[in-house]
Amino acid sequence: MPLTYAGYLKLDQLLALQEPLSEGPEHDETLFIVVHQVYELWFKQILHELDYVALTLGLRDAARTQHAMKRILTILKVVVAQVDVLETMTPLEFLSFRARLESGSGFQSWQFRELEFSLGAKSPASVERYPAGSEPRRRLERRMAEPTVWDAFLRFLAGHGYRVPPELLARDVTRPIEASPALRPALLEVYRKDPMAASICERMVDLDEGFQEWRYRHVKMVERTIGMKQGTGGSAGAAYLKTTLDKPFFPDLWAIRSEL
Ligand code: HEM
Repeated sequence: MPLTYAGYLKLDQLLALQEPLSEGPEHDETLFIVVHQVYELWFKQILHELDYVALTLGLRDAARTQHAMKRILTILKVVVAQVDVLETMTPLEFLSFRARLESGSGFQSWQFRELEFSLGAKSPASVERYPAGSEPRRRLERRMAEPTVWDAFLRFLAGHGYRVPPELLARDVTRPIEASPALRPALLEVYRKDPMAASICERMVDLDEGFQEWRYRHVKMVERTIGMKQGTGGSAGAAYLKTTLDKPFFPDLWAIRSEL
């Protein structure tokens, strides 16, 4: 049998994966499932590209890094814009099937935690939420032990002769990224003297800002859909999500802007 479009894409399996749980089923549940599945696919692709960025930074290959960053940023724009689609669902439409979600929540998306880990927001609590030995737990443990994109970026700068504090290059990569005033003179020098490295810094800021945009759009979607109700994942809902806003992955790249 020659390869077909459907065979290559495994369409039979893919299109059988949308299974509403509500009676009827409720019209809007299909949209809810499709949008979440599409997000998880994009998360998968972004992780794939972030791994590549870490690799190309390690190789000090600025051109390939820029290229992969551009792709990630383009996907992020789509991912942020996609919130509009789910916002066509009204609060009552969501309520028509919300109870069927039980305690299921985007909070449990391990790929989202992998993205956070890859970008430097490591958190043992996020690992421990998954049962020992499970696939999500294994994946998060692996990401936890791996250097982040930020670590690769610092090595890239050091490789280009910038004075990155040695303690940052030797840091415990299982820890979250913290602001480091000692790094800022090197970053300022990059911005003042090195357009190539400075443009990589700017793409890192784009990435950081893109994630913050997603968090903001998500919390607004939550507020307009469920108000201040608790989340199905058991958190305080919008009130919890607001605590995650304005926490940049790369604080030093933001801090130097006041010194330029
Ligand atoms: C009607 C639409 C949505 C509502 C009402 C909603 C609601 C919530 C709430 C209340 C939380 C906080 C955790 C909890 O207690 O459940 C949360 C977290 C989360 N949601 Fe959504 N969500 C929606 C759509 C989405 C979509 C489309 C995605 C895409 C994958 C998503 C991904 C996430 C993620 C990753 C978190 C964890 C955020 C963090 O801990 O920083 N959500 N959501």
